[in-house]
Amino acid sequence: MKTVETSRLILRRLTLDDSARVEEYASDYDVAKTTLNIPHPYPEGGAREFITSILEAERNGKIAIFAITRKEDNGLIGLINITGTNANRRAEIGYWIGKPYWGNGYGTEAARAVIKYGFEELNHNRVYALAFTDNPGSWRIMEKSGMKHEGILRQHAIRDGRPVDMTYYAILREEYTG
Ligand SMILES: CC(C)(COP(=O)(O)OP(=O)(O)OC[C@H]1O[C@@H](n2cnc3c(N)ncnc32)[C@H](O)[C@@H]1OP(=O)(O)O)[C@@H](O)C(=O)NCCC(=O)NCCS
Repeated sequence: MKTVETSRLILRRLTLDDSARVEEYASDYDVAKTTLNIPHPYPEGGAREFITSILEAERNGKIAIFAITRKEDNGLIGLINITGTNANRRAEIGYWIGKPYWGNGYGTEAARAVIKYGFEELNHNRVYALAFTDNPGSWRIMEKSGMKHEGILRQHAIRDGRPVDMTYYAILREEYTG
């Protein structure tokens, strides 16, 4: 897993030292409520356990999760992952940004960089993402990253006991312009 640099961000491997920042932002229900894998309430010490399991999964080549950090202060502001299979050369991306940093284009900048990583470093043929239909911030990132809308998966998941519709976007290698 390489470090990825964009104009304002460094995407790097997570370490256990990131636990406190991850826990602080992931504990915010406004961040958790439109994701499928952040529990709420967030368990104390949960980020440390999460990062430990991620480092293990990365060693097995199952997933790559980047800490999204700002160049200006080296601070972690969010996470982004790309998870795929070599068999079909496709990968899914997912991300969150800590609430204090929303609305600055960081999510879009990180997503574009990871899509590039998926095509250029991991040799994928297709990169896709899913978002709640009522989460325009997320599907706007997909649109701004060159992904195309492929459909709606009705009641595809359950969040807090409530069925949610998911919107599905993807970009193909042949559409990727770098
Ligand atoms: C979704 C999320 C990643 C957006 O991150 P961000 O860094 O604020 O995104 P950007 O600043 O790059 O904005 C992306 C676009 O979405 C728009 N947007 C952001 N939040 C929005 C909102 N609540 N409503 C409508 N549009 C929104 C922005 O205006 C921008 O579009 P524009 O350039 O056309 O104006 C962030 O809000 C988040 O982490 N949410 C909680 C976790 C989550 O939902 N993750 C995605 C799961 S699939």
